[in-house]
Amino acid sequence: MKIVVVGLGYLGATHAACMAELGHDVLGLETDVTRLEALRAGRVPFYEPELEVLLQSTLESGKLRVTQSYQEAADWGDAFFIAVGTPQRKGEYAADLRYVESVIEELVPLIQRDCVIFGKSTVPVGTCARLADRAAELAKDVVVEVAWNPEFLREGHAVQDTLRPDRLVLGTDAEGGLAVVYAQTIYKSLLESGIPFLVMDCASAELVKVAANAFLATKISFINAIAEVSEAAGADVNRIAEAIGYDERIGNKFLKAGIGFGGGCLPKDIRAFMARAGELGAAEALGFLREVDNINMRRRNRVVDIAKKSCRGSLLNKKIAVLGAAFKPNSDDVRDSPALNIAGQMQLQGSTVVVYDPKAMENSKRLFPTLEYASSVADACDNADLVMVLTEWGEFTEIDPIRLREVVREATVVDGRFCLDRDRWVSAGWTYHA
Ligand code: UDX
Repeated sequence: MKIVVVGLGYLGATHAACMAELGHDVLGLETDVTRLEALRAGRVPFYEPELEVLLQSTLESGKLRVTQSYQEAADWGDAFFIAVGTPQRKGEYAADLRYVESVIEELVPLIQRDCVIFGKSTVPVGTCARLADRAAELAKDVVVEVAWNPEFLREGHAVQDTLRPDRLVLGTDAEGGLAVVYAQTIYKSLLESGIPFLVMDCASAELVKVAANAFLATKISFINAIAEVSEAAGADVNRIAEAIGYDERIGNKFLKAGIGFGGGCLPKDIRAFMARAGELGAAEALGFLREVDNINMRRRNRVVDIAKKSCRGSLLNKKIAVLGAAFKPNSDDVRDSPALNIAGQMQLQGSTVVVYDPKAMENSKRLFPTLEYASSVADACDNADLVMVLTEWGEFTEIDPIRLREVVREATVVDGRFCLDRDRWVSAGWTYHA
């Protein structure tokens, strides 16, 4: 089966390389020339473990090629995957669907044989049906089916999540159409290894994705709400999470309290979900997600308050070392990163903020050029009045607190991710806050 993947960002580049790894002939279509040339040269223009090796091997074997041409893609492909972004609209909660829509507008008029377009991007419920209608209008004497095949990959684990997903979901409204057979062919080896394959209508498949992300966001905000109460009561949220996590109905994953969730998915997806529910007249059902968002954003303010208190009530003229800028470790993604947001807030309150992150320096500088940046932990912490660990990179959890103490002005640390060994830091003479 000849597969085209449109949009070679995190999702598309990973999907394209992984489908080639599964043995398919794959053509990746990317209209951003800089990104396209990097990928063609075997370079992944973002940090994702395992992806670069896979990209290079599949390019070398000829299983994966890349192009900028819709015409070439339309002439060649049997199955098309849409993997372009659906960012939050500026000043609104709703998702911006212009990139998804433009794929249909550009691609479908060029297609000359029956085919299936599988949407992978996260979209508001109802999008697939709308795009299917539009594709039927644009198609010239051929059947162009539009189905939805949501992706659940996590940044930092994208390759493994694509090659060994927990489940495959396919949404199709075309009775007796091609989508199920094509998906079974494309994912044959995964299905043979026993991965559950759930076929449903398009609206349900679209909702599976946003429901999963809303649940994960809720779980994180739940434990962070318990953290607020624990703090007030003098209790330990980590022991509570550990204890409730043993209950299989609750489970111990995604119960890590801290500065909350960020990234390119959870924050925007829960907002787009609320906006869509409102359009459907079901806003009340998702009212709790507003609170999930509020709890999450409160975490960022709370850690600034903790920092302020630990600097004796004022951040003015303090030198603050911020360790971590990515929204989570093993990623260089700083979209809606709690760490950078907190760094920005500290600067606005008059401190000099020096940031260090093992992978996210370039992206951070682009987003927050007014912060200062250091090239190592020791550089960032040089003469610091306060050290804040805001992304739980292994490099930070392995810091030797005895040696770090020698470079700082004040041995005070705020652990925004509960990732440091508190006793070790305290016995090395640090004042520890979390
Ligand atoms: C998420 C979903 O997990 C994935 O299934 C979906 O396809 C895309 O969105 P991702 O954005 O890569 O993936 O990040 P994820 O690992 O889910 O973490 C999201 C945020 O939650 C991070 O900022 C992380 O630090 C935070 N988090 C996660 C917590 O604060 N506590 C936790 O217990 C877990």
